[in-house]
Amino acid sequence: MSAPSTLRSFDAYAKPLDDFRIRTRTGGIVTLVSAIVILLLVASEWMDYMTPEHHTRLIVDPARKEKMDIYLNITFPRVPCMLISMDVMDVSGEHHNGLTYDVFKTRLDPAGNVVVDSPPEREQIGNTVKKTDVAKADDGKSDAPKKEAKCGSCYGAKPPESGCCNTCQDVEEAYGRQGWAFTKLDHMEQCVREGYAEKMKAREKEGCNIHGKLTVNKVAGNFHFAPGRSFDQAATHVHDISALLSRQFDFSHTIHHLSFGPMVKGIKNPLDWLEVQVPSDRSHLIQYFLKVVGTEYTYLNGTTVITNQFAVTEHHRDVSGPGGQGHAALPGVFFNFDMAAMRVIQSETQKPLIQLLTSLCAVVGGVATVAGLVDAGLYRAGRALERKAAVGKLA
Ligand SMILES: *[C@@H]1O[C@H](CO)[C@@H](O)[C@H](O)[C@H]1NC(C)=O
Repeated sequence: MSAPSTLRSFDAYAKPLDDFRIRTRTGGIVTLVSAIVILLLVASEWMDYMTPEHHTRLIVDPARKEKMDIYLNITFPRVPCMLISMDVMDVSGEHHNGLTYDVFKTRLDPAGNVVVDSPPEREQIGNTVKKTDVAKADDGKSDAPKKEAKCGSCYGAKPPESGCCNTCQDVEEAYGRQGWAFTKLDHMEQCVREGYAEKMKAREKEGCNIHGKLTVNKVAGNFHFAPGRSFDQAATHVHDISALLSRQFDFSHTIHHLSFGPMVKGIKNPLDWLEVQVPSDRSHLIQYFLKVVGTEYTYLNGTTVITNQFAVTEHHRDVSGPGGQGHAALPGVFFNFDMAAMRVIQSETQKPLIQLLTSLCAVVGGVATVAGLVDAGLYRAGRALERKAAVGKLA
């Protein structure tokens, strides 16, 4: 036997002679429809192949001494910037040291627009940066150079390292160190000169936007916004609100953005665009408890982004105190965060090409077979009808 005829004996697709084929109109329709179906299915398979697959797994977080960036943008429409201070503390209750804070406060007028003549002010977090604050305050006083040389009195309170209280803020801090209430501003030369009390009055109706970036150690901690300057006194963190006692603080706020790292696909920050309203005549303490989960995302091209996602619960408490006088607790907005022990590892992978080929074969073969069955059925039915009609005519 010759080679071609041996091959011929393997042919599973024995062809009928062309003379025995007939083309029908229904056959044409079935072919067209099946071609369209094949096209649609192939397109969807192709799209499925082109979207990368996501793999997610959990491991116990191996990171030690990792740092974490916190990005925030929060607006307090009814607390002026000068009355809010922001603080960051870690799990031991201490201020973070040697870490960077790039947080800015922007004054907002009562309508919520940025106060144009006042550029964003860098928030001084922690006690290590107060010196520059004093220098800045002095720089602004070019009209009173003699006063700088003079050593301002601290009115019996514990003076700073320099021994002088040259600004109203120095006095306020000295009072804080001493544990005294900072009132009677009109008896203090510095405060009268700086118009501290009037300044406060004029700005009372303003709002404040706070935005920026904090870099903190990846340990449990909190950052919070509360009225008054904060001091570390006898190893505890206190806010001096004694001068502000008669007033309620409406800590309504809008969180435009809060995230614990760069954005990646598929991560939602649950607090973004959250608007919280509290009654304007009551002081509220609003606490968020965040559980931060480390996340590693590897893109198809191999770049890996390390970030964090978080879950949040929320707690509100009215701290206005009896009769709206005094504060049973410090009002403010606290973000308490804690680290989860697990890390989520997500990666994108390309689906295997062989899977696409298999699917395509299945689509083409399957549709062709089904179309063949449909066509055969239609043809037989048509023939049967024709035959019946012929019999009817004879009868
Ligand atoms: C903070 O959010 C507000 C509202 O979306 C936006 O107008 C403002 O530009 C944001 N600030 C920064 C620094 O991104």
